[in-house]
Amino acid sequence: MFAELTHTGSTCAMMNLSNRPLPLHVLRAGDFTVPMNDRLFTRAREYEERFWKDRKGLAQTHEGMILFNIFYEESSRTIASFAAAAMHLGMKVHSTQNAGQTSSAAKGESLPDTIRIMDGYLPDILVLRHPADDGAAVAAKFSAVPVINGGSGRGEHPTQAHTDVYTIEKRMGRIDGLTIIIGGDLMNGRTARSLALMLSMYRPAKIIFVSPLEVPMGSDVTARLTERGISFTETDDLRSALPEADVVYWTRVQKERMPPELYGKIKDRFIIGQQQLALMPEHAMLMHPLPRVGEIVPEEVDHDPRAGFFEQAHNGMWVRAALISSILDRTLYAP
Ligand code: CP
Repeated sequence: MFAELTHTGSTCAMMNLSNRPLPLHVLRAGDFTVPMNDRLFTRAREYEERFWKDRKGLAQTHEGMILFNIFYEESSRTIASFAAAAMHLGMKVHSTQNAGQTSSAAKGESLPDTIRIMDGYLPDILVLRHPADDGAAVAAKFSAVPVINGGSGRGEHPTQAHTDVYTIEKRMGRIDGLTIIIGGDLMNGRTARSLALMLSMYRPAKIIFVSPLEVPMGSDVTARLTERGISFTETDDLRSALPEADVVYWTRVQKERMPPELYGKIKDRFIIGQQQLALMPEHAMLMHPLPRVGEIVPEEVDHDPRAGFFEQAHNGMWVRAALISSILDRTLYAP
């Protein structure tokens, strides 16, 4: 029924055989511009306001439409916030967690075959999390349904970057001119990569990458920043970076993506607690895509007004609602 679809950027270049409109995929943070984000974030704010004023009306806006979550890796926030976002818009949702074990992938079915089959059940949106860096891109090649990258290996997590930039703007009022620390396991953390790539569209004063020397930010990301004239530094000295920061974006060491010896060596290298908070400016915000697994000390940090990570996770639902509806009304990539 479906040919393999070829792509230019994030849209299919070839008409699929069932004459469905060409799908608008969300694969990479770098496919977005500041005006696109501004439009998306305006819609996210409108949806949040509308929910509190007219929840029933909001739930009629996308009635009858369907979202499939297909997650081959574990998730709490991404899968639940996409499901909740879709349901608040009135959509129906089908979610598969750990699809590598619980779907026919466990019997050896390939990703293209799974996507071809899901596609034929006619959801309106397919959200995919996959362990391969190019998982979402591969799925998009075979899908006539819009594919949203819900996290692909060490590669990208673009909707987390939207959530992060939205949260920074909401709390700090802007991105331009800010000094932003992105720290932790930068080699394996896809949220850190996508955030840096999305920030390259803005004019931050400086990005400071703080990581153990063993897991630096990828050279493809730093090359993009250089190309776009974004000032950045790389260091393993958190203490000297903290006093400069307007935003500290902290991430966990990705145990599942490194040898146990390396994990043991670096897991406790950078922990944010009372001493580190004391070095941060009073106006700064501490972010984390979560889950946190020891790199932030809850009892020392959670009560501090600079802690923004729960607000950040909750913002993700409205940003994802705006993404879903902007894909469905085809305004997402409008110039
Ligand atoms: N931030 C994030 O992607 O969280 P989950 O892995 O729980 O979806």
